[in-house]
Amino acid sequence: MVRDMVRGFCRREVVPRAAETDRGKFPAEVIQGMGRLGLMGLCVPKEHGGGGADPVAYTLAVEEIAAACPSTSTIFTAHNSLTCEPLCKYGNEGQKREFLRPLAEGRSLGCFALTEPGAGSDAAALATSARRSGGHWRVDGMKRFITNGNEAGVCILFAATDRSRAHKGIGAFVADAHAPGFERGKCEEKMGIGGSSCCDLHFRGMELPPDSLLGEEGQGFEVAMKTLDGGRIGVAAQAVGFARACLEASLSYAGERTTFGRPISEHQAIQWKLADMAIGVEAARLLYIKAARRKMAGLPYTVEAAMAKVFASDAAQRASDQAVQIHGGNGYMKDYPVERYYRAAKVTQIYEGTNEILRQVVARGLCR
Ligand code: CAA
Repeated sequence: MVRDMVRGFCRREVVPRAAETDRGKFPAEVIQGMGRLGLMGLCVPKEHGGGGADPVAYTLAVEEIAAACPSTSTIFTAHNSLTCEPLCKYGNEGQKREFLRPLAEGRSLGCFALTEPGAGSDAAALATSARRSGGHWRVDGMKRFITNGNEAGVCILFAATDRSRAHKGIGAFVADAHAPGFERGKCEEKMGIGGSSCCDLHFRGMELPPDSLLGEEGQGFEVAMKTLDGGRIGVAAQAVGFARACLEASLSYAGERTTFGRPISEHQAIQWKLADMAIGVEAARLLYIKAARRKMAGLPYTVEAAMAKVFASDAAQRASDQAVQIHGGNGYMKDYPVERYYRAAKVTQIYEGTNEILRQVVARGLCR
């Protein structure tokens, strides 16, 4: 039901705006529409304003949105997986009332501020600090490449509270992104997903109220890692959406385009590409559903999420390459959607853990 509802919404509202969104226009009306449908807090419990859906339903929704518009799916996953999810899991009642409800009802957008110029793959190497000062937390530092950073009203922010304790001295905070001292900096011009903002954030003596900690002091690295485990299942579903869109566009094109007197879909060189794309989509979907089902059952899923994200993003990158090739010269032109997926697919091999780091996570799981 969720998948069909999201598919219908995407056909009506998202697909027609996808090219404009890719060119850099934030899809505000689409996000509002998603809020009205209950999608902006899809897995948030109903008592906090959400849809109360499970992780499998969520990932199916992500696949549909990704197949319709890469930028919109990035905005959606950073909001749901990386902002609502840690608030649900670690937030206290006051934090849920103040921050989670507006997010879940689609009245505010969320961002997840972990990455810094010197802390990407090595996520514990944070230079941003949070110190207790006069009953408040005083935050100094900056964040880089923050998805939704330009529009966010709520920010999950990671900062070192005690450097001597390395990753055990990191705090996760929930911050009002309109509070004094929260400054938005440069927005990147990216290869793809142009409608999704990716910004620097600056904190110069920003004061956070004493009850801004999410979970315990020193629990921030765990909050980040567990949140990213869930986020990676979402990225896998997103990559499947990209690959599926490439397959569907290629099937349609190959059935219409003729060379040497017949549709190119009758040429074996094209058929093998289509077959490889379909195999990638099916296998990657099974992997993300397996990881989501383990999450739903309360079983460990760190390794399964990493496997799904690596496999699906590699499959999406291959599928988008094959789709452009099948479309020939037309594939290189912006009149056809496949070049948009070609540019978008690359990021799924990079964000929420590069595939190199995730292969390491899988290997550590195997060798434990
Ligand atoms: N769940 C819970 N705990 C975890 C964990 C997990 N998945 N992974 C690690 N930990 C714990 C470990 O158990 C360990 O705890 P103890 O000290 O109590 O034993 C602690 O964290 C440190 O673990 P490691 O020794 O493995 O830490 P490390 O520094 O060697 O490596 C890493 C950790 C896996 C490389 C990690 O830094 C990582 O995942 N890096 C990638 C970061 C990332 O994904 N960034 C994405 C940014 S957000 C983004 O991209 C959003 C966007 O734009 C949309």
